[in-house]
Amino acid sequence: MTALVLRGDARHLPLPDASVDLIITSPPYFGMRSYVDGDEHYSGQIGDESTPREYIGNLLDCTREWVRVLKPEGSLWINLGDAYYSGKGAPTQPDVKSVARRPGVRALDRSGLGFPRKSLLGLPWRYAIACIDELKLTLRAEVIWDKPNALPEGVTDRVRRSHEHWFHLTRQARYFAAIDDIREPGSGYMRRPGATRETPPGQRRRAMADTVNPLGALPGSVWKVATQPFKAPDELGVNHYAAFPMEWPRRIIRGWSPAGGLVVDPFGGTGTTALVAAALGRRGVTVDRSADYCRIAAWRTTDRGERARALGLPKPPPQVAGQADLFGEVVA
Ligand SMILES: C[S@@+](CC[C@H](N)C(=O)[O-])C[C@H]1O[C@@H](n2cnc3c(N)ncnc32)[C@H](O)[C@@H]1O
Repeated sequence: MTALVLRGDARHLPLPDASVDLIITSPPYFGMRSYVDGDEHYSGQIGDESTPREYIGNLLDCTREWVRVLKPEGSLWINLGDAYYSGKGAPTQPDVKSVARRPGVRALDRSGLGFPRKSLLGLPWRYAIACIDELKLTLRAEVIWDKPNALPEGVTDRVRRSHEHWFHLTRQARYFAAIDDIREPGSGYMRRPGATRETPPGQRRRAMADTVNPLGALPGSVWKVATQPFKAPDELGVNHYAAFPMEWPRRIIRGWSPAGGLVVDPFGGTGTTALVAAALGRRGVTVDRSADYCRIAAWRTTDRGERARALGLPKPPPQVAGQADLFGEVVA
């Protein structure tokens, strides 16, 4: 399958109503990082808002649009990071406008936001609760991204932050899921046909022990996934510092989209979601406002080495003219 790269805005997707099976996305953090186009910070990017309220408002506008394009039985998986508030900066001072990766978790410095100093802003929760309350979406799961290689932090009075949030949201209570495809080794349980949820406490264990699932255990709600370095080829003249590891779209696509289905990332960046979707036999669409990142995604979603990595395979040897490649295309 191939992937389509579109330059566009996450709030206005050039896609028909109810056409998408699965959305997987990771919006920019609030006030933390600058994304560029033509080497310059570009306007209209999410994350640039003056207040958390505006940021959440813009994310909700995006989400309304994603609900429009999502099939009723589709799913939305969204990754959100939080921020601490230092309030130490000037009121108008923008936070660092640099694409450089920051060590550890940076506090948001802008002053005058009305939060207690040193508090977390609670952005993922604010978003998730608004999705339930305002958009009437069903919050099916909160999955914690446990980052075993999270960067160190210089604080001495709180724990180091080593996780981010993922939320699984649906339009309706019944939706597509292929959970058996992502079961994990170990003993899983399956309810016997006809067994009710209301098994009295003492009997529950016996009833479940009768029904061990041979396909394995349900994945839990904490997923340990190491961050993966990404480097675009030098000839593209631009890099991206916020690509998520392929393991996230890999598990989500297998678990919540049908073969041949349409998988979209409206904040597509380097095209990780579309690349993995295409490698797994789905149609992938990646959208980004920056033409620079669309160039990276166009390279990445067609590169044989990246495609092999998406499948967890070793890098294929160089192609020889006349020989069919790994994916069945003959080189002229
Ligand atoms: C955290 S990155 C996503 C990285 C992506 N998951 C990957 O693996 O490469 C967020 C992306 O959102 C893009 N972006 C910011 N505002 C946007 C908007 N309004 N519409 C579309 N893309 C936007 C940025 O250019 C950036 O590439």
